[in-house]
Amino acid sequence: MFERLSRQPDDPLLALIGIFKADPRAGKVDLGVGVYRDEAGNSPIFRAVKAAERLIWENQSSKSYIAPEGDQAFLDLLWTMVGGKASPVHAAGVQTPGGSGALRLAADLIRQAGTGKIWLGLPSWPNHAGIFEAAGLAIETYPYFDVASQTLQLDRMLEALRRAAPGDAVLIHASCHNPTGAPLTAQDWARITDVIATRGLVPLIDSAYQGFGAGLDGDAAGLRGMIAAVPEALLAVSCSKSFGLYRERTGALYAVADAQATAETARSNLVALARTSYSMPPDHGSAIVKTILGTPELYADWSGELETMRQRLAALRRSFAEALGGRWSNTIAIGVQEGMFSLLPVTPAEVMTLREKHGVYMPTSGRINIAGLKLADVARVAGLFKAL
Ligand code: LMR
Repeated sequence: MFERLSRQPDDPLLALIGIFKADPRAGKVDLGVGVYRDEAGNSPIFRAVKAAERLIWENQSSKSYIAPEGDQAFLDLLWTMVGGKASPVHAAGVQTPGGSGALRLAADLIRQAGTGKIWLGLPSWPNHAGIFEAAGLAIETYPYFDVASQTLQLDRMLEALRRAAPGDAVLIHASCHNPTGAPLTAQDWARITDVIATRGLVPLIDSAYQGFGAGLDGDAAGLRGMIAAVPEALLAVSCSKSFGLYRERTGALYAVADAQATAETARSNLVALARTSYSMPPDHGSAIVKTILGTPELYADWSGELETMRQRLAALRRSFAEALGGRWSNTIAIGVQEGMFSLLPVTPAEVMTLREKHGVYMPTSGRINIAGLKLADVARVAGLFKAL
């Protein structure tokens, strides 16, 4: 059987982790995979995560299975964080192995019950297309962002979505757009929501960076308005970045509907789909999130640390945007974009020059992870871009 297989290329983004590690140069800079870093270049464990792990270690008395849908207390607390304290919508969730697991499960449900088609922005996180194709969905695209002018293409996006068929799914980034960082105003959200509701489309909202853009509530405001205005939605949540739990694979998928019974029916299908895939989700990360969200002192410490990270990213953005100029004048938008990523107008050959000559690492798309910069490195790295 194996002789029929051909070797698959490594995932280009994840491969960068190993290539960067192997580079012996002292001044190397990692602007690759989306992991938060501090000024020392470390990806620290949140203090509240360590404290929660200690509590779990002391108090957990069994490693037996929890429930097919995961831990309901975790799902309820995470829903409050994303959906808001007084959400008017009906939702039923399942715990998933990370945000990617949530997206795959959503895709399986769309294949089973929807039109089998999903609309994806150009550009989007590269793995979105991979996940949806692997689940057998047909992909249509809508314009989203022009890299050269660093501008959102909202009118073109809406024009494309008006051509979508009722029941088609539409992938929407909740905040901190990956890979562009382009923010949506409240008015932009209202216009997108209006087209989605009028056309009878089903939004699949990917929320993976809550807290890194406009704060915990600011980053969820758009999605909260959208799910309140449509009869059906799917909401994929990742805890990787917001809680720094990357390797713990912690996330959830919520079915949102205009009646609780409908949301519960959708959930029962998600549970059945998960059962034939990974059976039940891992627990450790969700136990940490549940402990933090359910313990006021840990919540205060975690949200404070997250806010410090958000402010560091915003400061890095402002100083990097100021340090770029000339050909890079449009990249002044980097200063007002949000979250970890921006997409720079560089060619793959220029990306390779930066990598090979100067030890500055990013994927060939030109996406940079702002968190990989250090304030102390901003002028030097901006100078390398300007010299291209
Ligand atoms: C990223 O886009 O860098 C992260 O979401 C990590 C990943 O899985 O690609």
